Amino acid sequence: MSEPVRFLTSFAQSVATMALYGPSHPARKRAVDASYRILRDLQTHEAQPEFSFLGDEVVYGHHPLREMRDWEWAARLAASGVQRLEFAADVSRDDFEQFLDGVVARLGLSAIESAEARPGAALSSIRYGPLGIRGEGRIAPLVAQDLLTDASLTYGLTEEVATVEWMHEQVTARAQLPLLEAESVVRSLAVAMHGDQEMLIPLLTLREFDEYTTTHSLNVAVLTMALAEAMGMGARDVRAFGVAGLLHDLGKTRIPIEVLNKPGKLTDDERALMQSHTIEGARIILESDRELDLAAAVAYEHHIMIDGGGYPHRRIARKCHCASALVHVCDVYDALRTHRPYRAAWETVAVLDYLEKGAGSDFDPDLARTFVELMRRMEGRIEHATLADLRAGVQAEAPATSP
Ligand SMILES: [Fe+2]
Ligand SMILES: [Fe+2]
Repeated sequence: MSEPVRFLTSFAQSVATMALYGPSHPARKRAVDASYRILRDLQTHEAQPEFSFLGDEVVYGHHPLREMRDWEWAARLAASGVQRLEFAADVSRDDFEQFLDGVVARLGLSAIESAEARPGAALSSIRYGPLGIRGEGRIAPLVAQDLLTDASLTYGLTEEVATVEWMHEQVTARAQLPLLEAESVVRSLAVAMHGDQEMLIPLLTLREFDEYTTTHSLNVAVLTMALAEAMGMGARDVRAFGVAGLLHDLGKTRIPIEVLNKPGKLTDDERALMQSHTIEGARIILESDRELDLAAAVAYEHHIMIDGGGYPHRRIARKCHCASALVHVCDVYDALRTHRPYRAAWETVAVLDYLEKGAGSDFDPDLARTFVELMRRMEGRIEHATLADLRAGVQAEAPATSP
């Protein structure tokens, strides 16, 4: 049994024991001592262990623990809101016990009064909660229900924005793509789109040029999922396409901001650098996770037109993946309706017109037509907000109640 598996097994035993016995029972002390010791052993190899519980999957750091596939506690922990568990290097025995008490209470297993159980008290050495708690010492719950308040839909994507910003920083600083966070952002977006009976499209409006990559990534993820759904795809494919949409411009994290936001015409060298974001993005994604081949294909192909034009140039023309063709439509829509340093934003009507005219040459005709129809049908159910609105906690423009 590997050390992380040993720790999780003893952690579950402690939780089960604590659910049965009161605070002063010796069985409880023995169980806590044993799992604390195993945790400290584990920490001699990995000072700050991190676990994620994703339904039936347990991930240690970035590696799924295959032996824990059928571990029933993973689903229980995830369902009670413990999807992520992080230990600092200096966990004390007291903190550890307090943390176990909190988990017991969360799971609804408390054998003792909740006042004694001290559930939910903040611990600096152990952090646990929903996915997205990484970074900056904050607990940022990416929980579906938090996106919606009462019957009225408010724009609640602040945490998703923060997570995407943090994700881009990680790619820049550590050349590492935090995939779990990307997937959790997409799940939250999918929930935000379906909080009401009818689909809603939450879009961010750019105000500050340096926020472009964040707002654009989120918008393209939302639009991609909306179009994939309109094309009749199932929930799993819709989410995989959403992740690909979220990551399509990841290569832009490697391009200097002066080139990205240059108001004038690009020089040949600058254009070549700009266009390299496709190849660079695909490389970052594949280096992070070879199984993300769909997202890598989309990062590589999303500027290629249906007639073979666009970039990167390929010596042998072949059909792009349908996810790339789909993201291409959504990408152009979001780019054109956004104000950029080198041109003003287009009116939505003009953008839809452009997509219609380009069907068959630039864009896949079925996808372009379905997208244009969808956006016309959804008029009034597109919710707009700026990042500044989100940060100030301002409620977005309320969408019309019926299309
Ligand atoms: Fe791009
Ligand atoms: Fe893009």
